[in-house]
Amino acid sequence: MKIKDVVEKQLGRLPPGVLSGAFKVAKKIPWVRDRLEREYATMLASMETSLRPYRGEFESFGRLPAEGKERAEVLEMMKAMCSREESRWREGYVSGAVYHGDRDHIDFLNQVYALYSQANPLHSDLWPSATKYEAEIVAMTAAMLGGGPAAGGDDEEEVCGAVSSGGTESILLAMKTYRDRARAERGIRHPELVVPTTAHAAFDKAARYFNIDLIKVPVGADCKADVAAMSQAISRNTIALVGSAVSFPHGAIDPIEALSELARGQGIGMHVDACLGGFVLPWAERLGYKVPPFDFRLPGVTSMSADTHKYGYAAKGTSVVLYRGQALRRFQYYTTTEWPGGMYFSPTFAGSRPGALSAAAWAAMVSIGERGYLAATRAILETAATIREGIAAIPGLQVLGDPLWVIAFASDELDIYRVMEHMSHGGWNLNGLHKPACVHLCVTLRHTKEGVAERFLADLAAAVDHVRADPSESSGMAPVYGMAATIPVRGVVSDVLERYMDLLYKV
Ligand SMILES: Cc1ncc(COP(=O)(O)O)c(C=O)c1O
Repeated sequence: MKIKDVVEKQLGRLPPGVLSGAFKVAKKIPWVRDRLEREYATMLASMETSLRPYRGEFESFGRLPAEGKERAEVLEMMKAMCSREESRWREGYVSGAVYHGDRDHIDFLNQVYALYSQANPLHSDLWPSATKYEAEIVAMTAAMLGGGPAAGGDDEEEVCGAVSSGGTESILLAMKTYRDRARAERGIRHPELVVPTTAHAAFDKAARYFNIDLIKVPVGADCKADVAAMSQAISRNTIALVGSAVSFPHGAIDPIEALSELARGQGIGMHVDACLGGFVLPWAERLGYKVPPFDFRLPGVTSMSADTHKYGYAAKGTSVVLYRGQALRRFQYYTTTEWPGGMYFSPTFAGSRPGALSAAAWAAMVSIGERGYLAATRAILETAATIREGIAAIPGLQVLGDPLWVIAFASDELDIYRVMEHMSHGGWNLNGLHKPACVHLCVTLRHTKEGVAERFLADLAAAVDHVRADPSESSGMAPVYGMAATIPVRGVVSDVLERYMDLLYKV
């Protein structure tokens, strides 16, 4: 009997809270634990092969080689693996992941990286140029997101921020900031954060890391935050509200203006997660697309996250977190004055940081400029409109919400995960989502190249036909998604994910 059947049969009729409690208790029984581990191992066995395609072909290193290898040999081995991985994203088969990817742009960023590979912004005395780049990345991003000079010339309101390692770190930093401010200024010991269910997993992570209670509020049928329900969820302990512009799953822009007013009225923080949309929406607005207000022009918006390493077209590893006013940003900082190692301070979570990545992000921004971002956004939104209309025209598929370029689609006739699985046989790497079951394509500059959108739509139509012809065929990740979506004991899914991560570190 499969694990899903075992668990469903034994525990499936209980409500979820009881289920997770029962699961935790059941796992303490040795035979249950052993049985589960065996089931997990079977499930993950096939994944190990796909995770380690180079095993047996390229040398593995479980320990340092006694003698260092020749540099040429090392490079040759790495180039061989790298080139095999390149064609998929370069030819536009991947959702999101690589947002620019043109050869000349990458070569330029690589030159900058090579110049600064030793730089560390922690030592601003040694690399003042890296510090300058970070200050200017923050200033340029703030100005792009309605930060400009503060209304009424009020310096305390001026938008400021920091460069972090990615969207997740920007979000973690902002949530820690709100927690610490609420503790210092309002004496809140049991902080709560109110988020729409579609907010990125990074908010859940922040809540767990920083002991914040996450209040998840279901979104409406339009995939957008339900303002009235979020208002109901606010309590004396609420430190902030969250909205996305745009959301990861469905590319929806939450009603930020209403959330901003709600937060302002309650005297709490309002974070706009613009990790995905921050470098697209301002340009979309200028191009005349219908973009509701979503940034610091709204007085209740107190912080934002915007990723330079997505549509900012920087190398992977940078993002910007912004705050309304330096007083708020100071709750993010870390300082210690008593350490024998000297006076120590760091603005973000890391100590030493890769100055080369900040240098490359700065170089990307100043070399692309407003005109370049406008052109890139125009190309992406036009391609996305073609793709969206094409998906909607395929019988059996429905586009969720009203997306601009992150296009989620579902089916009320077919198993959408099987459609995704069939697409993967053709080389496509799409994102499987659940609650509701759907799949999305996050359109990037890679999809704007000639013929890519047409190829995607033709392959998708063929995949739908294939699944319709044989709805029972199931292979690869489809059953895993299916199981993950339906299994009542979420602890089982969590266990499998943990064991999957163990595999990532297996040599
Ligand atoms: C809306 C949104 N927020 C946050 C993140 C997290 O960003 P990162 O993967 O850079 O940590 C993502 C990533 O896709 C995102 O789409």
